[in-house]
Amino acid sequence: MTKQLSASLMCADLMNLQKSVDELKKAGIDYLHIDIMDGSFVPNITLGFDLINAIKAVTDIPLDIHMMVNEPSKFFDMMKLDENDIICVHYESDIHIHRVLSQIKAKGCKAGLALNPQTPLESVKYLTDYIDMLLVMTVSPGFAGQKLFAAAERKVADARKLLDDAGFADMPIEVDGNISIENGRKLSTSGADIFVLGTSSLFLKDKELSQAAQDVRSALNVQ
Ligand code: DX5
Ligand code: ZN
Repeated sequence: MTKQLSASLMCADLMNLQKSVDELKKAGIDYLHIDIMDGSFVPNITLGFDLINAIKAVTDIPLDIHMMVNEPSKFFDMMKLDENDIICVHYESDIHIHRVLSQIKAKGCKAGLALNPQTPLESVKYLTDYIDMLLVMTVSPGFAGQKLFAAAERKVADARKLLDDAGFADMPIEVDGNISIENGRKLSTSGADIFVLGTSSLFLKDKELSQAAQDVRSALNVQ
């Protein structure tokens, strides 16, 4: 499967976001990863819906919306999105997550299901028909700059096997959290396809964004 890069905007220069988005476009980044938090599902609050709509209006890079909020469907109408954008929700964020995934499809977007480090892979087993992407969290969600979850490689490999065995060999697995070049390489070997890039590899103090993107691209063999 084609490997793809998703840039985590919460890690970008928030006072110069337009510049970052332009640079990410030039660098050929595949998705803009936008973290939405509610201070309840995760203990932090970051970006919001007005920002999503403002970004959508100025770029054709597809958006990869990662909703770390309880009852995410309450917010779907607030986002102006299209068929290339992904809305990704957490398994635990609604009792009836199957219904929520169907609501994403009804909105005309791609649906993603996110699993926290401790969430069993079994959770996705009966939902594969309702999703376009599986997000395997490689840290507990909520903050940038954390350390990779110890079983991340094993979980990605198990997830890949589960999807392949179920007839979903084409379904991409996304990994989010501490995706350094080294961790990205290992997770790529385990079967990850979309890499969320934050402070560990793309938004670095000592490297230009264009150079960092190029380095990740060549290290992970992204076309
Ligand atoms: C939360 C975020 C973070 C972060 C990734 O869902 O997506 O995981 O931006 O960047 P790192 O972990 O490299 O700081
Ligand atoms: Zn995220």
